[in-house]
Amino acid sequence: MRKIWKYSLVLVSACLLNSCASKTEKEMASTSKISVNIDARIDSILPLLTLEEKVDLCHAQSKFSTKGVERLGIPEIWMSDGPHGVRAEISWDSWDYAGWTNDSITAFPALTCLAATFNPELAGEYGFNLGEEARYREKDVLLGPGVNMYRTPFNGRNFEYMGEDPFLASTMVVPYIKGVQENGVAACVKHFALNNQEHWRDLVNVEVSDRALHEIYLPAFKAAVQDADVWAIMGAYNKFRGQYTTHHELLTNKILKGDWKFDGVVISDWSSTHSTLEAANNGLDIEMGTGTDGLGTTTANHYQHYYLANPFLEKIKSGAISEAVLNDKVRRVLRLRLRTNMNEGRPLGRANNVEHHEVARKVATEGIVLLKNEANFFPIEDQSGLTITVIGENATRSMTAGGGSSELKPKFEISPLEGIKARYKKAKVLHTMGYETGASEYDIVHAPTLNQDSLKAEAIKLAKAADVVLFVGGLNKSHLQDCEGDDRQQFGLPFGQETLIDDISKANENLGFILLTGNAVAMPWLDKVKGLVESWYLGSMAGHAIADVISGDVNPSGKLPFSFPKQLKDNGAHSFGETSYPGVDMTQHYKEDILVGYRWHDTKNIAPQYAFGYGLSYTSFELKNMTSDKENYSKDANIKINCTVSNTGDLAGAEVVQVYVGKKDSKVDRALKELKGFAKVSLNKGERKSIDVEIPVSKLAFYNADTANWEIETGDYEVYVGNASNNISETLKITIN
Ligand code: BGC
Repeated sequence: MRKIWKYSLVLVSACLLNSCASKTEKEMASTSKISVNIDARIDSILPLLTLEEKVDLCHAQSKFSTKGVERLGIPEIWMSDGPHGVRAEISWDSWDYAGWTNDSITAFPALTCLAATFNPELAGEYGFNLGEEARYREKDVLLGPGVNMYRTPFNGRNFEYMGEDPFLASTMVVPYIKGVQENGVAACVKHFALNNQEHWRDLVNVEVSDRALHEIYLPAFKAAVQDADVWAIMGAYNKFRGQYTTHHELLTNKILKGDWKFDGVVISDWSSTHSTLEAANNGLDIEMGTGTDGLGTTTANHYQHYYLANPFLEKIKSGAISEAVLNDKVRRVLRLRLRTNMNEGRPLGRANNVEHHEVARKVATEGIVLLKNEANFFPIEDQSGLTITVIGENATRSMTAGGGSSELKPKFEISPLEGIKARYKKAKVLHTMGYETGASEYDIVHAPTLNQDSLKAEAIKLAKAADVVLFVGGLNKSHLQDCEGDDRQQFGLPFGQETLIDDISKANENLGFILLTGNAVAMPWLDKVKGLVESWYLGSMAGHAIADVISGDVNPSGKLPFSFPKQLKDNGAHSFGETSYPGVDMTQHYKEDILVGYRWHDTKNIAPQYAFGYGLSYTSFELKNMTSDKENYSKDANIKINCTVSNTGDLAGAEVVQVYVGKKDSKVDRALKELKGFAKVSLNKGERKSIDVEIPVSKLAFYNADTANWEIETGDYEVYVGNASNNISETLKITIN
């Protein structure tokens, strides 16, 4: 499908080379290969383009591509979702899959899992390996990662994001992006901005304070732009202060392109563009996915009717929009090409190779979070004579299928049951579904079918016959679960799982729960299970990774990237009722303001079920002797925090040292404490290490809405070190002068 105009590309290169008058031919040839002066090349291409050709660069020509300029050898741009693997080929004109047989890939774990590793180096490996797959599939832009903040456990897309803390998300997103882009493939960070729920996502208007915007919702995007030099960013569907975010005067023009000096392209979400004038003037560079009257049903080239197609051209011709506006967009889309498919030096990529599968497995095992381990329920040793009964539909269900645009077509996907069976060779492993997901929640409670009754009866029978029962349940990737397009509608587990767990525990109390979700869920059943692991959606190697952890081959070290409230109203966004979530009359007010996630639990003294940063290990750690290099710091200094971490248990393992900072006597409202640094440390049994965490004082600033600037308050601050937001080992005081 992709057209390659090799011959003309050479012509463009040659014509550009001729413009570098003083260099030798050899020097020029090598320059043209990799380290091209991108701006000079843009300058020389721009005058060669007609007005029509320039406009054509700013909108889609198919579902996932934009036109090139054939006569000049400027290639098309090809994009693909994102963010956990490269999506299967979609048809030219519709959302149907194209039915290719050579587009299967490696499915990497969901971004919640990646965030739970608290391991930025691994995020870099994830990005690089995923970028290789995108390159192999001849994609120029990978539509991911997502860094919208986890505000409510109802958001159907939380699994595609990196949790509730801006510092964690920023720290993890930067290496991911750099890794992808090393392959000459652009990452496209999304969805900019405030797309924190799926319910009414196309229409909802978000009202949020400047402070919360800058302190909570924008930092990960800012890090993507300023620390990772991301080449593309995707607008969102929702409105902010009455204007669509995809072409937003404040967000796109002033903040992104103005303050942050973003030099890449702003791509619309698919169908998030609403006006030619706003799109043109408020910084949208490429319009994708807008439905048109003719979409898929006529042979007319309906892409020409996009807001940034003919209507844009007409407005430029009539003088309503200046050509300079168009030229800025064209410079950006040419820059995107020079960084990707016009960079002749970019590597070739590869897919489905063993190394990629191993990275997927490593992220999965490091991201799994051990939440409960009564009487050392886990790890479970493989022994002959042992019977393990696995109950639950999630033990066999594909979790790479569904979920919306992040759906993948992996070459293989090891289910939890397959992984457990492959690891437990001596034990006998039985499986039964236990519940059925086809039935509605109402049916399960009010009119249980014969099928549900018999599934439950079978589960109880097999539970009784087992030494150990593993319930593999949670949510899935269907509509109204962890899925794009709408939000969850209940905090509890669906499909009758809560009562089923109750019944199983009565039949066999040696019960562990392998929970597969991208979101927090209510846990009224918690005292019925002895062991609990949060296993997210783990991609191709899911089952092997789960088996690695529950068998003890890998000692768990994942930490929750978001809080699990005990009840829904304990979550900040939900505590204010409908005006805050999901909104009233299509407008919502983020009333919890900066107190998102653990900031809310901490500050309001509402104990979560499981806190941000929490996660157990099969060994134990001690964090001690926190010191700072000084007591007083100037505003441009770096605070160096040191502490010792000891592995006090019997196994090698890894701990995440978390450093939070708070200011009790602040002149503005603040969270009790905020994550400002962390370090993941591997320790052998009995080993002790001295750990440094550096925090620039500038990172302690708050956003002053009155001056529209960041401000560092002088005075005393509290520094906390711990291994969870609610498990602080030591506190010390520092002063900023
Ligand atoms: C999603 C984006 C996705 C795009 C293309 C939209 O519906 O919101 O995240 O990249 O579709 O599939």
